[in-house]
Amino acid sequence: MPAHPASQVALTVTSSSATSPDASPTLREGALHALLLDDPAQKVLATGGLRARVEQGGEGAIGQGAVLAAPQGVPGRPARPLLVPPQKVERRGSLQSTAGRAVLIHALAHIEFNAINLALDAVWRFAAMPAQFYLDWLQVAEEEALHYSLLAAHLEKLGYRYGDFPAHDSLWEMADRTAGDPLARMALVPRTLEARGLDACPVVRTRLADAGDAEAAAIIDIILRDEVGHVAIGNHWYRWLCEQRGLDPVKTYASLSEQYRAPRLRPPFNLEARRRAGFDEEELAWLEGSAG
Ligand SMILES: [Fe+2]
Ligand SMILES: [Fe+2]
Repeated sequence: MPAHPASQVALTVTSSSATSPDASPTLREGALHALLLDDPAQKVLATGGLRARVEQGGEGAIGQGAVLAAPQGVPGRPARPLLVPPQKVERRGSLQSTAGRAVLIHALAHIEFNAINLALDAVWRFAAMPAQFYLDWLQVAEEEALHYSLLAAHLEKLGYRYGDFPAHDSLWEMADRTAGDPLARMALVPRTLEARGLDACPVVRTRLADAGDAEAAAIIDIILRDEVGHVAIGNHWYRWLCEQRGLDPVKTYASLSEQYRAPRLRPPFNLEARRRAGFDEEELAWLEGSAG
C-alpha cells in the first residue's frame, strides 16, 4: 500500500474546544450544510470555512460516529446550468475562438462544481470511518473549490459565466448510485471518474496551450497536480475498505464497475499519473485489458 497521501494533515486540539465541543456543528454537519448551498460562490466560501472546525475542535469536532439523515435538496446547485442528457450538451467549436474555449472551460467548471459536491458528500454521508477519511475528503473539497474558482474566473475573463451553457449530470448520478456504500463510492468516483480526469488533462492542456490560452493551460496543470492526490486518496480508502471486508481489490473493482454501470474507460491512459496516484501494475493491466 502506498504512503498515505494526506498523512501530513495534523490535528490541533485547543483548550477552548475542550470546554465547548458542541458549541458549533461538527465537520460532517458543516460539510452537509455546504453541500446544500445552491450558490457556487457561497458553497466555495462555506467549504473554505470547514477546516477551522477541526483546527479548533480536534478530532472530536469531526463527528465521525454520527449517522446523519439525508435531507431534501442534496446536492445544492444553481438553477443554471440547465441539466440535459449528455448527448444534448453543446458541442464546442474550434478552441481558436473565444466562444469555443468558453464551452470547454464551462464544461470543466461544471465538473469541478460537481467535484466539490462529491467531496462534501463523502465527508458527511459515510459514518464511522477513521478520522483521516474525513480530513482527506475535506482536503479534496478545498482543492475542488479552488479548481472551480479558477475556472469560473477564467470563464468570466472570456465574457461568460458558469451557468451560460447546458451541462449533464452524470457525475452526480454516480454519487447517487453509490450513496449506500463507501466501498462503491471510492471505487467508482475517485478511482473511476476522477482517474478519467488524469487521462484527459494532458490532452486538454495541449489543446488549450496550442490555442494560445496559456492561462487556462496553467489552470489544468494545477488541476492535474491535485487530482493525482484525489485519486490516491480514493485508492487508499478503497483498499482499506477491501481489507476490512476481506475482498480482493482487483476482482471487487471489476464486479463493482459492472454492478454500478461504470462508464467504460478508454485509452490512452495516463499511466504515469495513475502510477503516482497509487494504481499498481495488476490494476493497470486489468484496465488496459478491459478497455480492449
Ligand atoms: Fe478538481
Ligand atoms: Fe478531484
